[in-house]
Amino acid sequence: MPDGQTPQRPHDACDAVVVFGITGDLAYKKIFPALHNIARAGRLDLPLVGVARGDRTEQWLREHIRNSIAEHAEDPHDAATDEIEERLVFVAGDYNDSQTFQRLAEVLSGCRRPLFYLAIPPSLFATVVEHLAAAGLAQRGRVVVEKPFGRDLSSMTELDEVLRGAFGEDDVFRIDHYLGKESVQNLLYFRFANSFLEPLWNRDYVSSVQITMAEAFGVEGRGALYEELGAVRDVVQNHLLQVVSLLSMEPPVNMKPGPLRDERVKVLHSIRQPRREDLVRGQYVGYTEEPGVAKDSTTETYAALRLHIDSWRWSGVPFLIRAGKHLPVTATEVLATFHRPPQMLFEDTLPRDSNHLRFRLGPDRVSIALGVRSKKPGDAQVGRNVELYMCDDEVGSMTAYERLIDDAMDGDPTLFARADAVGVSWQIVDSLLDGRSDETPELYRPGTWGPAAGDTLAADVGGWHEPGSE
Ligand code: BG6
Repeated sequence: MPDGQTPQRPHDACDAVVVFGITGDLAYKKIFPALHNIARAGRLDLPLVGVARGDRTEQWLREHIRNSIAEHAEDPHDAATDEIEERLVFVAGDYNDSQTFQRLAEVLSGCRRPLFYLAIPPSLFATVVEHLAAAGLAQRGRVVVEKPFGRDLSSMTELDEVLRGAFGEDDVFRIDHYLGKESVQNLLYFRFANSFLEPLWNRDYVSSVQITMAEAFGVEGRGALYEELGAVRDVVQNHLLQVVSLLSMEPPVNMKPGPLRDERVKVLHSIRQPRREDLVRGQYVGYTEEPGVAKDSTTETYAALRLHIDSWRWSGVPFLIRAGKHLPVTATEVLATFHRPPQMLFEDTLPRDSNHLRFRLGPDRVSIALGVRSKKPGDAQVGRNVELYMCDDEVGSMTAYERLIDDAMDGDPTLFARADAVGVSWQIVDSLLDGRSDETPELYRPGTWGPAAGDTLAADVGGWHEPGSE
């Protein structure tokens, strides 16, 4: 949405938002703050229906929403919070009980195009979707589903069949909140809005690409959920493969959802089947003491991997990815390193990454830096590494959830994962993890950069780049 404007919604925009799991963690941390911002922008002009099991009262929910906004919205605004409360209708009931859905149907009787947000565990998706269909609500609705979308290709396919039994593909919105981030959108923008980059953005000039997603904290009370996932399924299959595809895709013919999503999927198809040695798994010391985690857990909290894209553009260029909990900093960064100049006119050797392009994707900071070699002042023809640096903090921009919920309300699928893309990502992850999930990961101390074997994976490109504080 352009700054300072409130564009009209399209004619088939949703006219009600229904949140299943309204009393849960995701609603508290992400959905209410996003709805608050949408209300602030004057775009929440529809009923908001919350559905939840359990014995919470409407009074409790209203208080809960106020607390969520006070705690998580960047700039809490009373009028926007009041508006959410005014629009709220609470339907409490069991997801297995058709009565719950009858009541929901009554509440939605005047609505043409409801948006159903499934902020509930995937194990409940089938029940809810089947009841929505039986109550005649799915046929005219759209549905938003959260990651993890399955835990491998086969469970993803099953899940997809459930959804597709009730909703058309155009009405399924699979959230990967990375796609809604300002900084991740900028990868696409920066690549295709600048002519200087395109001639360089290929195997002739780029020697390696690294992506690090480091988090300085652990599983933060999500132990039981994390146990089912591990780092590869939690963030590589979705967020980091999306970043890889935005960095490596070919230009789309235009920015319409179809061509754009086609290119994102095409490049994922070009990723070579990884080999066993392309993945290093680690676990931080103390993980097995976390609540909800098995004492003999083999779940990885760190993963480092190496991918190859078999295409004319990227053949021979390693894409190195690592993600981990309890690393020294919280930062997500991309570093594309360029080849050295063909002739060393000034110095015998140069640091390997003296020419690079670095994208800081957050949190808080979004920056782009061009690493160049520049002459040190003085008589000698010797140089130093410097960065041409641009930084834009994210304060004031739309949050990922705000953008994605707003787009789903409009029915715009551009920033959502299409079924084929999710399927290819699972194929890659399945072959990476094949037979590995029961292996004991290497331990690493919290506050370090993970196990030594992870470093070995990047040794031939000069080692991992460590995102620093900015
Ligand atoms: C989530 C993962 O999808 O993304 C979390 O499940 C991770 O484990 C989080 O911490 C990171 O998101 P962000 O937006 O804070 O970088």
